[in-house]
Amino acid sequence: MTHVTKDILYIGVNDHDLDLFEGQYIVPLGMAYNSYVILDEKIAVMDSVDRHFGSQWLANLEEALAGRTPDYLVVQHMEPDHSANISLFMQKYPSAVVVASSKAFTMMKNFYGDEFADRRIVAAEGTELSLGAHCLKFIGAPMVHWPEVLMTYDSTDKVLFSADAFGKFGALDTEDPEGWACEARRYYFGIVGKYGAQAQAVLKKAATLDIRVICPLHGPVLNENLSYYLGLYNTWTTYGVETEGVAVFYTSVYGNTEKAVHLLEEKLKEKGCPKVAVSDLARDDMAECVEDAFRYGKVILATTTYNADIFPFMRTFLTTLAEHGWRGRKVGLIENGSWAPTAAKVMKGMLENCKDTSFAETQVKILSALTEENLAQIDALAAEMLR
Ligand code: FEO
Repeated sequence: MTHVTKDILYIGVNDHDLDLFEGQYIVPLGMAYNSYVILDEKIAVMDSVDRHFGSQWLANLEEALAGRTPDYLVVQHMEPDHSANISLFMQKYPSAVVVASSKAFTMMKNFYGDEFADRRIVAAEGTELSLGAHCLKFIGAPMVHWPEVLMTYDSTDKVLFSADAFGKFGALDTEDPEGWACEARRYYFGIVGKYGAQAQAVLKKAATLDIRVICPLHGPVLNENLSYYLGLYNTWTTYGVETEGVAVFYTSVYGNTEKAVHLLEEKLKEKGCPKVAVSDLARDDMAECVEDAFRYGKVILATTTYNADIFPFMRTFLTTLAEHGWRGRKVGLIENGSWAPTAAKVMKGMLENCKDTSFAETQVKILSALTEENLAQIDALAAEMLR
């Protein structure tokens, strides 16, 4: 249990047993479910934690309370990694009241069979809740990344409780060797990425507040150099280019497409490309690949024709990008096909609704193995991508 400010204490938990977060994301560094308590004349608890950690969370809370009783449980987000212990809390503290949005109460009934009709405060954008010295003001954050989400601003300590925004993968008792951005980016684009416009709208509201500390529901409390985190979120939520260079994504069955990719990588580097990030979609973490597709402004896609379509891992990748609102990138295509190559056409078709996407004129068309003509195409594609 640590202090965030004099009156705000961290009471969250770390999870090292989880195989897949939200049923799909690997979390090699574990996961943190954050919860906070604000101690004032009235006491507010900010969200609960995953269902496997109810007792540990309540024990953390009890220690923080030092004999006192909480008045409010603020539920900012109803996804069960944060809402699973609402009933447990309400049973333990029968005088407490739940504070949440109207949509959150509907979800509470749907998930847990109770919407606490006579023990609740329905909050919305602009609702204020005074705890004594601290005043909490609620900020609507619909679709960041569920519709019921509220963020909360404590104007006394100048703390923004940001729900899932500014969260990252990784437990808080485990050092992340790559720093904050890598796992925060993978988290953002995987989980929130589709809702850039909504996240941008919340950032604009946040820009009107004096924020000294950001308390997200996952990942560390952010209390210094906030312009760095806000700057990255501004880039991510506007689908901006974060890193100059080219990201290359491929699948390869017998190594010929892979060979073309490595030749292209060499050519790009020779021609001065500041960074070339190559990923094998069959072997690398898909969420890491998705984050890289958003990180770079230029992308090469290389795959084989398969069942008159494209190789399954590339299909999954492009479907995910399209679903997540991927846009504004320049794309180069490499296709391989032994008798009826169609991969380039299929890939282009899958991205046709991605806004502001442009395609390089040069395409590399391999008919099984690389030819001299392919080498010239690879050289031309590298030059065109860097133009
Ligand atoms: Fe961390 Fe959207 O739940």
